[in-house]
Amino acid sequence: MKERLQKVMAELGVASRRKCEELIADGKVKVNGTTITELGFKVDRDLDKITVNDKLLKMENKKIYILLNKPIGYITSVKDQFDRPTVLDLIKNINARVFPIGRLDYDTEGLLILTNDGELTYKITHPKHNINKTYRALIKGAADDKDIDSFRKGLRIEDYITSPAKLEILWYEKNNTVVNITIHEGKNRQVRKMCSAIGHEVLKLKRISIGKLTLGELKLGQWRHLTDEEIRYLHVLGGAKNDTDQKS
Ligand code: URA
Repeated sequence: MKERLQKVMAELGVASRRKCEELIADGKVKVNGTTITELGFKVDRDLDKITVNDKLLKMENKKIYILLNKPIGYITSVKDQFDRPTVLDLIKNINARVFPIGRLDYDTEGLLILTNDGELTYKITHPKHNINKTYRALIKGAADDKDIDSFRKGLRIEDYITSPAKLEILWYEKNNTVVNITIHEGKNRQVRKMCSAIGHEVLKLKRISIGKLTLGELKLGQWRHLTDEEIRYLHVLGGAKNDTDQKS
């Protein structure tokens, strides 16, 4: 069966589909010895010999799915120009090259999923999927009903209006507020920017859930493999169109 080159590469764990497209466009990929730069190029994964940076892709790559409780002080890219620790430094003894689905800031902690399933990464991070992500935050000052309303209506951050989001006030700590924030977009530093837009700087930020996946008892810096049921759920999310699917 012929399939798109970037799809096969992503499924074999090279990287996310978008990154694979870049590798192809950059001339890093050969099929049967010929460099391919065309994104629509199709291959037969059982017959064609695919190399990336002249390394042959192995076909028996097993899919691995990991849930990590990321501590502050680690970046979610696989490499850092400043040589800071990466989340991969926390994941030892696995025989696969995994990469994070989406990102968390250096100074954000909490739930991060890593996988070598580039196809799932592509689907889950696609903006059309609207997957709920909930964050526990300590924000400066006393939040009130007006702030809840602003989140619900959408906020201007730079040149962009956020879609409706949920702000839930949990309790007050001295002059600050502990809140849960649920968004379903994934703009860069979105929660921090939304909170700044209503005048409440984020002092601490932790992602506590993605859809119905939660951290459970996992301590900071620890990770575990997803269960088969959780993996199935993620695949449903990748094809899900609305909230109802996320809850089922
Ligand atoms: N929003 C942020 O501001 N930072 C994160 O790490 C995740 C969401």
